[in-house]
Amino acid sequence: MWPEDVGILALEVYFPAQYVEQSELEAHDGVSAGKYTIGLGQSRMGFCNDREDINSLCLTVTHRLMERYDVRPQQIGHLEVGTETILDKSKSVKSVLMQLFEPHGCTDIEGADTTNACYGGTAALFNAVNWVESSAWDGRSALVVMADNAVYAEGSARPTGGAGAIAILVGPDAPLVFDRGLRVSCMRHAYDFYKPNLRSEYPVVDGKLSIQCYLSSLDNCYQKYREKRCLTEQKPSEDVNLANFDVVLFHSPYCKLVQKSFARLAFIDFLNTPRERIPDSYGDTIRAFHASKLEDTYFDRDIEKAFMALSKCDFERKTRPSLLIANQVGNMYTPSVYSGLVSLLISKPIDELAGNKIAVFSYGSGLCSSMYSLTVTKNTQEGSDLAKIVSALSYVKSQLETRQRASPADYTRILALREQNYHVVPFAPESSTANMFTGTYYLTQVDEMYRRTYARV
Ligand SMILES: CC(C)(COP(=O)(O)OP(=O)(O)OC[C@H]1O[C@@H](n2cnc3c(N)ncnc32)[C@H](O)[C@@H]1OP(=O)(O)O)[C@@H](O)C(=O)NCCC(=O)NCCS
Repeated sequence: MWPEDVGILALEVYFPAQYVEQSELEAHDGVSAGKYTIGLGQSRMGFCNDREDINSLCLTVTHRLMERYDVRPQQIGHLEVGTETILDKSKSVKSVLMQLFEPHGCTDIEGADTTNACYGGTAALFNAVNWVESSAWDGRSALVVMADNAVYAEGSARPTGGAGAIAILVGPDAPLVFDRGLRVSCMRHAYDFYKPNLRSEYPVVDGKLSIQCYLSSLDNCYQKYREKRCLTEQKPSEDVNLANFDVVLFHSPYCKLVQKSFARLAFIDFLNTPRERIPDSYGDTIRAFHASKLEDTYFDRDIEKAFMALSKCDFERKTRPSLLIANQVGNMYTPSVYSGLVSLLISKPIDELAGNKIAVFSYGSGLCSSMYSLTVTKNTQEGSDLAKIVSALSYVKSQLETRQRASPADYTRILALREQNYHVVPFAPESSTANMFTGTYYLTQVDEMYRRTYARV
């Protein structure tokens, strides 16, 4: 017997306590005003100084979730980390997190790390769900931790950075349930974004190819998801479309790409609609797009513009509320799509979330991608599990606002400092810990044997 309603029991998000304004970065980088803020749709970008690394990010978010929800170490049977911020080619971040469990006598905890660009978090989440649904499950919960420090070399990709972490508690009888059997993937080999230089934190990026890979994976996943849903619900294929979702969450490298992606789903729905059922109001110009081949349209500006306009209202309703953290912090890589879930939960009145069907598209370059859906419980009353999650996340908006603003010059200097000290030992970080949020772990030193130690604010 499968446990019922396996899904998300608790959620915690962490982002660094400093950010840079994208409008100031535009001026600093000498690009035209509006390129990052309007063109990419980004307002602020969070970043880590030399006090934070992947271990500290994961320690912070894990400890905070356990404290906020009063989760005891004995309750966790599976712990897995999804990240592409690799500090060590052998020792997992999960093993570092065991510092939170070992002192309580808890070492019987499955799972290790999972990596593939921004997709590692979703892979770890699937593993957690699989564990709860498997014969290995022993009644305890699974904890998934995803975090990254997303930094780029100077140039056009730099404004699409960010940093942060998310922890997700998984178990049965959850208020956010993974729809059983409705999970599809598109996995391919591509060199769109990758990190072959182990002496650098920066990726090698083919920006245009990465957009094409993202959109083609989205096309592929959406079509496959629709086919699966048609089969399970015994509906004709054109009847599974955007109208079947109350919310659509996307991995967000930058918010403008998400808006274009939503429009792309509307375009796919249009292509799937028999010609005779296209509303007359669409006019001849749009009707002419019906003959298009999807794979020829990744950079077709006319189609993009037409469907962004047609789908704007739906986008504002179904996806815009999920972009708060993406807009304010930037691309967190693995946690990005789940920061969308957090943003949604704190942006919509809880009554409007009741019974919602949420589509989730996760993408990681290289490439791995999946689409699946979640169903929100109908019980949104005070004291319900969903109300508890929403209330636990009430700190997010105020923490976003109380972050310290750094100048682009300081941001650039801090990135240069990280570059200079990357894998240098022994190392003592120099940034102040004064402005860090309470409960944040920070690096105190790296010794000559590359062993890292941390303290907590
Ligand atoms: C995404 C990326 C390729 C953009 O870099 P770029 O080529 O320098 O940027 P562009 O010249 O295309 O400009 C970005 C957008 O800003 C718009 N823009 C430029 N100047 C502008 C201005 N002053 N006001 C408003 N918009 C402006 C451009 O028209 C473009 O929008 P469009 O694509 O809708 O036409 C780059 O940031 C990158 O490589 N990022 C990392 C990889 C990534 O995030 N990939 C996504 C998939 S995973």
